[in-house]
Amino acid sequence: MKKKLKVLLVFDTPYHTPRDYNFEKEFKELDWVTEKDVYSALLENGYEVTLLGLYNDISLLFEEVKENRPEVIFNLTEVFKQKTYLEKNIAWILEILGIPYTGTTPASLLICNNKALTKKILTFHKIRVPNFYTFYKHRKVKFIRKLRLPLIVKPLYEEASRGISQASVVDSEEGLIERVKFIHIHLNMDAIAEEYIDGRELYVSVLGNKRIKVFPFREMKFGKIPEDEPRIATYKAKWDYKYRERWEIKNVFAGRLPLGLDKKIVEICKRAYRALNMQCYARFDIRVTPKGEVYIIEANANPCLGRSDELAQSVEKSGISYNKLIQKIINLALRRPV
Ligand SMILES: Nc1ncnc2c1ncn2[C@@H]1O[C@H](COP(=O)(O)OP(=O)(O)O)[C@@H](O)[C@H]1O
Ligand SMILES: [Mg+2]
Repeated sequence: MKKKLKVLLVFDTPYHTPRDYNFEKEFKELDWVTEKDVYSALLENGYEVTLLGLYNDISLLFEEVKENRPEVIFNLTEVFKQKTYLEKNIAWILEILGIPYTGTTPASLLICNNKALTKKILTFHKIRVPNFYTFYKHRKVKFIRKLRLPLIVKPLYEEASRGISQASVVDSEEGLIERVKFIHIHLNMDAIAEEYIDGRELYVSVLGNKRIKVFPFREMKFGKIPEDEPRIATYKAKWDYKYRERWEIKNVFAGRLPLGLDKKIVEICKRAYRALNMQCYARFDIRVTPKGEVYIIEANANPCLGRSDELAQSVEKSGISYNKLIQKIINLALRRPV
């Protein structure tokens, strides 16, 4: 019989768990659905899988690698010590270990975790992004005249719409200063203010290293949110199921787009993927204006991989099952030179 490939599934945990912890209790809860989905798919694909949760003790990873010698590491970590900006540091360690690992490289995580740095690189490659200004903590916050109101103010390094609410969109000098200070003080983070792009919000999933493939687009529909209010994916709009129901907010496959726009989006996202040196899998959050201009709002390196998340939905639409997707991600990791 063929020997099973040894996979180490690494993810972050909100508290310490020992190396041999089985996560049976956690995997029954909704918060852990991605880890559970990937774990089940790996088992169904016939791998020998070990689970490892990381909270704040990186030595668990070193011990695991030394004693069990995994052949590939499936990296689902999004934070370390509950801090998003430390996500990239885990990938740096995986790169040093020299074992094939899934997801993008630490260098591209570093770029993509910083919403300003991503936009600077995309601008160099002539890919359209909103004009923006970065407000670092401990520096004077002042209005920037070259930016066109309204603006959206976000934490510079966050994910999953943490720190984003309807109040993030501001249309005055005072509003901007107040919201930037809110992010500095309450989230203890640097802030970015971007010109607000009015338009349809699409999510574009991509898979590949050298040869890359773009999958059918998803779209966020803002339902009954009034036209004169910001129609944005706030934290509540993404995660609060009652709020979504009340305002009829839905994520669906993108409806018809004006002629030629599909192709344009595919081409732009492929260029952006290469420009940011993304690998394995990614998702772009984009906005398309009524004039058909395509803006990249965010490049998500290592986006959510649950069965019901946008990437898996898009890939499934093109006829690739969830288990097959997880298999492909492993293969992409194995094929990448380490
Ligand atoms: N410049 C912008 N113009 C319009 N909407 C924006 C802009 N930036 C962010 N948004 C809205 O806020 C949401 C979250 O912003 P994003 O940069 O993707 O942060 P996160 O990393 O938290 O997902 C987007 O999905 C979009 O709805
Ligand atoms: Mg986003």
